Amino acid sequence: MTGQTDHALRGDYSRIRADYTVEQDWGAYTREEHELWRRLCARQAALVPRYACEEFRATLATLDYEAGIPRFEAINRRLAAATRWELAAVPGLVPDLVFFEHLANRRFPVTVWLREPGEFDYIVEPDVFHDFFGHVPMLFNPVFADYMQAYGRGGIKAHALGAIEMLARLYWYTVEFGLIDTREGLRAYGAGILSSGGEIRHCVESPEPNRVGFDLLRIMRTRYKIDTFQETYFVIRGFDELFEATAPDFAPHYEALRAEGLLAPSELLPADRVYHRGNAPQRAA
Ligand code: PHE
Ligand code: FE
Repeated sequence: MTGQTDHALRGDYSRIRADYTVEQDWGAYTREEHELWRRLCARQAALVPRYACEEFRATLATLDYEAGIPRFEAINRRLAAATRWELAAVPGLVPDLVFFEHLANRRFPVTVWLREPGEFDYIVEPDVFHDFFGHVPMLFNPVFADYMQAYGRGGIKAHALGAIEMLARLYWYTVEFGLIDTREGLRAYGAGILSSGGEIRHCVESPEPNRVGFDLLRIMRTRYKIDTFQETYFVIRGFDELFEATAPDFAPHYEALRAEGLLAPSELLPADRVYHRGNAPQRAA
């Protein structure tokens, strides 16, 4: 995930390079950490067949991730061959512009530390489990991989235009919490969902949240919550749709959107292509 946080950053930033990367220092992971990783993987892998999109499932099955926290180097050889992406070890969240620069150069920042056992079900900041399990399989998909790079380039531009909040909402509702409409039904491709034991079911099965067709401008004005399950999920019909809808220059979009108000996370609009109208009792902003 990316995003702002109002508490002190977790992670050791004392050894960062100019681009915020560090050594993964794989040998420093403890036996307990590898064990916790295995438990996280076992729980999540059991849910993936039912809730994850096939692009994610197909790649996950080929990654040797279950024995313990993976060595990024080993994955990098395969990722380079598949889509020319690479993983870059980082101590945790990095500044927006640094994050965008990495993506624009097909480098995905992966946090090196693992959560504590008490955070098995829930963690506020991205750790290596979220970053790796949630994001890495999708980087093997050629169209999604290109989307991520385009997003990074768009981020550098949005930063110059003072529009990163609008662009961050797109990341949130696609890369982190996106759903895709498939022959099997709605499936998850967003990393925030795929790395969550609770939300992976909730997003597809719960009657509470709205599920609405992908709409670029609508998403860029929809606020989101970072500490609860999402109240609205946006559904793409394919990765080509996502890539093509985001290809045009966003500068005029940012201009137009500045004149419009923001939408609450739970709000539905008459123009929405509704897959499911949420029935959550509390629909307040
Ligand atoms: N087309 C966007 C722009 O001009 C860049 C972008 C591509 C942003 C894909 C997000 C995702 O800013
Ligand atoms: Fe993430």
